[in-house]
Parts: sequence; C-alpha cells; structure tokens
Amino acid sequence: MKNVVIAGTNDVSNEIAKSIANSLSADICNPIYKTFPDGESYIRIPCEINGKRAIVVQSLVYPQDKSIIETILLGDAIKELKAEDQILVSPYLAYARQDRVFLEGEPISIRSILNIFKEYYNMLFTIEIHKEESLKYFGKPSINIRPYIYMAEKIGFDKRNIAVLSPDIGAIDRAKSLSSYLNCEYDYFVKSRDRVTGEITMQPKELDVKGKDIIIIDDIISTGGTILKASQILRSQGARKIYVMVSHAILLNNAEEKLISSGIDKIYAANTLPKKDKVHYIDVGPFIASNLTAYLN
Ligand code: R5P
Repeated sequence: MKNVVIAGTNDVSNEIAKSIANSLSADICNPIYKTFPDGESYIRIPCEINGKRAIVVQSLVYPQDKSIIETILLGDAIKELKAEDQILVSPYLAYARQDRVFLEGEPISIRSILNIFKEYYNMLFTIEIHKEESLKYFGKPSINIRPYIYMAEKIGFDKRNIAVLSPDIGAIDRAKSLSSYLNCEYDYFVKSRDRVTGEITMQPKELDVKGKDIIIIDDIISTGGTILKASQILRSQGARKIYVMVSHAILLNNAEEKLISSGIDKIYAANTLPKKDKVHYIDVGPFIASNLTAYLN
C-alpha cells in the first residue's frame, strides 16, 4: 500500500511530517488550513488519498483544543477521501496528565480525547505519553515511543563519568533504560516535606553525585519547578555537569532561562513542541519513521 504523510496544522507537526516522509520516501500532503472569522477551523486535503495509507502527523500543541479539533477534522477528511488505512502520529498528546479523577467530578480527559480519535484512526503512534496505560482508551493498536536512547545516540554524551537520575521513583524505568545504554549508574530523587514549614526537599536516594556528570531525565518539563529543584540539589552536592533530557519541553513563562541560570549546562528535548532558544532539539521524525516501518512490515 502506498503511504502518504499528511502534515498537521502547526510548525512542529510540519517539521516532523517532512522528516517522516523523507525517512519513508513517502509523498507529503500539505492540507489547506484556515480559521473562519468566528474562530472555527477549516481544513481541506487537496491530495489523492484513495486506497492509500494516510499518516496524519499532528502534535497537540497550544492551543491544544484547536489542535484536537483539527486532528478530528483531518481524520474525517481522509475517511471521506477513502483512505485504505488511517494512522495518527501525535508526538505530543495533550491532556495526558489528567489520566484519572483526582477530585470527584473531574473527567478523565485523555480518555475522552482518545475515545474520539479512535473513531477516525486505526493506529496511533505517540512519543512518551505521560502514562503508557492511558493508551488503552484508544482501544486499537498504539505504540508509545520512548526516544531517550535515540536522543542520547544523537547527542553523543561523554560516557566516562556520567549517571542518570529520575525526579521520582515512579519514573525510574526511564533512568534505568538510558543508564543501560550509557553503561552507567542510575538513581532517583526522594522527595520529603518538612512537617513544620511545608517545604519540599529532594535528595538522590543513594547516588553520590560529587564530580559526576548527571543527566536528569523526565517525560515533560512544564513550569520547570521539578527540574529546578533537582538541579539546585545536584549543584550543592558537587555534580560536575548537569544535563536535562525530556521528551516534551513546554517550558512555561521562559522557564528555560531560569533553568540555565540555575546552573544546568544543557537542556535536550525531542522536537514535539514549539521551539525555545537555549534548548537543544533532537528531531525524532526518523525514529518515528523507523517505528512505523517496523510496525507496517
Ligand atoms: C510529573 O509526573 C511529570 O513527569 C513531570 O515531572 C512534571 O509534569 C514536571 O512539571 P514541572 O516542570 O511543572 O515541575
């Protein structure tokens, strides 16, 4: 079956779509997008899709709600055009952190969104969803791509004196798998709250970071608060270089400035969200393409 890659509605999705199309040697289709004066989204796919595998690439970037609607409209349009297979590549799946009811009366937001996407798409690829279990709500085949080893290969860390730390025990698997590639130690931060002041402190569980280069690994940086705290502790304990590696760098309110001035040497992120100065991006398009190829063959 012939593949056609359909570029989504934002720059991030366009860049990844091009990269996937190049890696797959597939045609790329650039839909027409506009916003009506009343704010509604318009899309049209001016390409031959009939009988082909349509691979829609749409990262759910800000404004997320518009990105979601456009993903639905793209799915409907490729259905209308009689695509033989409908694949969604959504490198950043917004709403993934509302994956349960924290307070009575809340929705499970990621469930409601994936429930809609499954009406239009047969298969879903994403980069490091907050919790992989959430993909069950899609109810069809899906692949959560962990990009860290691919990113580390591209970055080419000096492996001689390095260790990997995860901000909490819940995310220890990420640190473990990257450390096995780098052949180094790994650990996680233990958080504790002072019962009197309420202040939260963090401490590596066992690792002595003195004189070591440390990679803090996480799925997402939002306000940067978690990473900031971690890096301050590492500095005070004598870490040499501090690197941050994440899939999704939201970095609200120029958080990257605060992180770099706190002594973080480099922030590495996958190119799943709009770019910020001072962040080093790794194009994960070719890695998504190799996952697509492995699945499709
Ligand atoms: C939490 O479970 C996530 O993995 C991240 O650690 C968190 O969302 C980061 O948020 P912030 O940058 O606002 O501290």
